[in-house]
Amino acid sequence: MPVPVPTSAANDLKSPGTPVDPEQVKQVKLFQPYRQQSVTMNNRIGVSPMCMYSSVDGTFNNLHLSHYGSFALKGAGLIIIEATGVVPEGRITPQCAGLWNDEQMESLKQVVQVIKSQGTIPGIQIGHAGRKSSMSPPFKGDYLESEQDGGWPNNIVGPTEEPFAEHYGKPQAITKEQIKDVVQAFADAAVRADKAGIEVLEIHGAHGYLISSFLSGNSNKRTDEYGGSFENRTRFPLEVIQAVRDVWPSYKPFWVRISCAEYVNPEPMGLDPNGWDIQQSVQFAKELKKLGVDLVDSSSGGNIKDVKYPISSMYQVQFAETIRCEANIATAAVGLIMEGEDAERILEKEQADFILVGREFLRDSAFVLASAQALNVNINWPKQYSWAVNKARRHNTSKEPEAEKLA
Ligand SMILES: Cc1cc2nc3c(=O)[nH]c(=O)nc-3n(C[C@H](O)[C@H](O)[C@H](O)COP(=O)(O)O)c2cc1C
Repeated sequence: MPVPVPTSAANDLKSPGTPVDPEQVKQVKLFQPYRQQSVTMNNRIGVSPMCMYSSVDGTFNNLHLSHYGSFALKGAGLIIIEATGVVPEGRITPQCAGLWNDEQMESLKQVVQVIKSQGTIPGIQIGHAGRKSSMSPPFKGDYLESEQDGGWPNNIVGPTEEPFAEHYGKPQAITKEQIKDVVQAFADAAVRADKAGIEVLEIHGAHGYLISSFLSGNSNKRTDEYGGSFENRTRFPLEVIQAVRDVWPSYKPFWVRISCAEYVNPEPMGLDPNGWDIQQSVQFAKELKKLGVDLVDSSSGGNIKDVKYPISSMYQVQFAETIRCEANIATAAVGLIMEGEDAERILEKEQADFILVGREFLRDSAFVLASAQALNVNINWPKQYSWAVNKARRHNTSKEPEAEKLA
C-alpha cells in the first residue's frame, strides 16, 4: 500500500486545479466545478482514457501510479483510467489492464487513492475489445499476439466472423450464451470498480471494440435478434448498460463513450443508415438517457479499416454538440482539443458539458495550468511546487509572481 502523505504536506484544503478566487471564474466555465449526481469535479478538464499497455495479468502497478498521479497533482478535474478488460480475452493486448478478479481490484484501489489524494475524481473505462483483441501493444508493432506471447488468437469473438483487418485475428460469432456471460462480466467489473473507490464509470462503446462492432451494420452481420435493424444492433449494448446500471450506484456518474461516425460515408455528419452514423448515435443516446446514463462521451471511428479520417482541430466537437442538442443529454467533447481557449469556447457555445484531453496531457501534464493562464485564471497549485515556481516561467501559477526569494 502507498505510504499516506502527512497532513502537513497534503494539498487537501486547496486542491490543485481549483480557482484561487471562485469569484474570478464566474465568467470562465472551464474552471467552474462540474457536479453530476453526488460527485463534484474541481474543473471541467478531464484526462481521456488512454491505454498504457503496461499491466501484468491485468493489474495496475507503479507505472500507473506515477502516470495517473502526475495528472492529479497537476489539477485535472477528472481522470478516466484506461480501457480495462472485463474478461481476459476482452483486452486489446495481453498487457492491458483488467478488472475480472480481486487482485486487479486491489491494485486499482492504490491508483484511486493516489488520484483522490489530490482532490481529483477517479473514473475508469471498462470494455471488451471483441474482434480487435489479442493484438500487440502499438509500441511493439501491429500484429496478432500468439498464445506463446500471452495472446488468444483462437479465442476472439465478434458479432460475426469477419476480422477487423487481414492481420487481425479471425473472430468466432459470439453465441447468445457467451453474450450473457459478457453482460454479467461488465456488471461484475462495475461492482469491483465501485468497491475500489472509482467515482465515474465509463463503458467503452466506441472504436470498433465489441459494443461498437455490434452497433454498426458495417461490422454486425448477424441474422438473429442481435443483428439487422437498429433495435436489434443496439440490443446487446443496451443489455450491458442495463446490467451495469443495476449495480452501479445511482449517486455516482455513469458515462458511455461511443463512436458517432465511422467515415464509411466520408461526410462526418452524413448518413450511413445500414452502418452507423450521427443520427443513429442520437437515437442511441436517447435510449442511454432512458436507462439512466449521465453523459455521452462523443468520439468517432475505429470500427472500419482504411477509411479516411477528417482529422483537424476539434474535429469531433460537432458530434458532442449534436447529441447534446438532439438527445438532450450531457456530452463530453474530445479530440485534438489542445488549447484552453478552445476548450472554454466549446463550453461557452454549449457544444459540450465537459472537455476530455488525451495526447496534450501526455505532452504536458500541466495542461490544466497552461489553460488557466491562457484564460487569466489564477488556480491553486501544489504548495510544494507553487512557492518555487511563482517566479518568471512559462507556466507560472500566478499572474503576479510573489516577491519572495527562492531558498
Ligand atoms: C496512447 C493512447 C491510448 C488510448 N487509449 C484509449 C482507451 O483506452 N480508450 C479510449 O476510449 N480511447 C483511447 N484513446 C483515445 C483517446 O482517449 C482520445 O479520445 C483521442 O486520443 C483523441 O483525443 P486527443 O486528440 O486529445 O488525444 C487513446 C489514445 C492514445 C493517444
